[in-house]
Amino acid sequence: MFNRRKFIKISAAGASLAALSSSKIAKAVAYKPAAGVPIVISTWDFGIPANKEAWKVLEKGGRALDAVEAGVKIPEADMNNHTVGRAGYPDRDGHVTLDACIMDEFGNCGSVAAMENIAHPISVARAVMEKTPHVMLVGDGATQFAVEQGFKKEKLLTPESEKAWKEWLKTAKYSPVMNIENKQHQPGSKYNHDTIGMLAIDAKGNISGACTTSGMAFKLHGRVGDSPIIGAGLYVDNEVGGATSTGVGEEVIRNVGSFLVVELMRQGLSPEDACKEAVKRIIKKKPDTAKNIQVGFLAINKKGEYGAYAIQQGFSFAVCNADKQDLLIPGKSFY
Ligand code: GLY
Repeated sequence: MFNRRKFIKISAAGASLAALSSSKIAKAVAYKPAAGVPIVISTWDFGIPANKEAWKVLEKGGRALDAVEAGVKIPEADMNNHTVGRAGYPDRDGHVTLDACIMDEFGNCGSVAAMENIAHPISVARAVMEKTPHVMLVGDGATQFAVEQGFKKEKLLTPESEKAWKEWLKTAKYSPVMNIENKQHQPGSKYNHDTIGMLAIDAKGNISGACTTSGMAFKLHGRVGDSPIIGAGLYVDNEVGGATSTGVGEEVIRNVGSFLVVELMRQGLSPEDACKEAVKRIIKKKPDTAKNIQVGFLAINKKGEYGAYAIQQGFSFAVCNADKQDLLIPGKSFY
């Protein structure tokens, strides 16, 4: 039977909906940034100046992708940073080979690995993403592409890096070691291989990430770590969040670490708990190896909540948003 009262109710609702102008509807569904967004976070203390540069893009309403590229170029250019970019320590044969990758809010990604003679691998990775049908270019092919794109080809082995390498050659028996990426864990170690991984959310709520390193000091020529591997050193899913890693890349690759962290966040874990679970997987798979290496994960979710976890003490990460500038937070650790 026709229910008149119900009809009146439905008609009234219809009338009030119709009364909403289309612009009001558009406003009702517009993205509202979570508290604390825009935000940029990155690994280690050198993340502080890197975040500052990224923040210049974010505070003007710029895109997270532009922010992370600009941010990680700071340590890439730093002549005192021997673990990222142009002043990175060479491999055991004296070649400076750089790894980097970048990922945007649409799932686009680009990467270069074992690339020589180009100071800003992150920008080449972005060019791979935007100007080629490929995701990854390596070695001479990456350098050739960079030169074709107008990047300057230059010698990257600095006198200081060369000196350190020659010192290493005296005692190392030409055998690469798995360095511990942790200044506090191995005081005074000059061969740490700290990576910068950076994640940003812009004012539109879009997430991007970048990761760049010179890799393990005095590695075998051709060795590639986790940093340029999408899913290992970096992963972004704009619906969920992003993750990045630092430390012994071999263990991160074995566990597809950053992808794992993002998938764990998708299942409802907080960024810190997701990073902790990924660290636990590495330890569980190789408990003896894990005692002597460092791996750290850093993650952010769509709401702008962030967290980190490492195997060893000493890992730190930097945070920058409208409220927090120059903030360095000690990462929690398993040991
Ligand atoms: N996480 C940097 C590397 O292993 O090369």
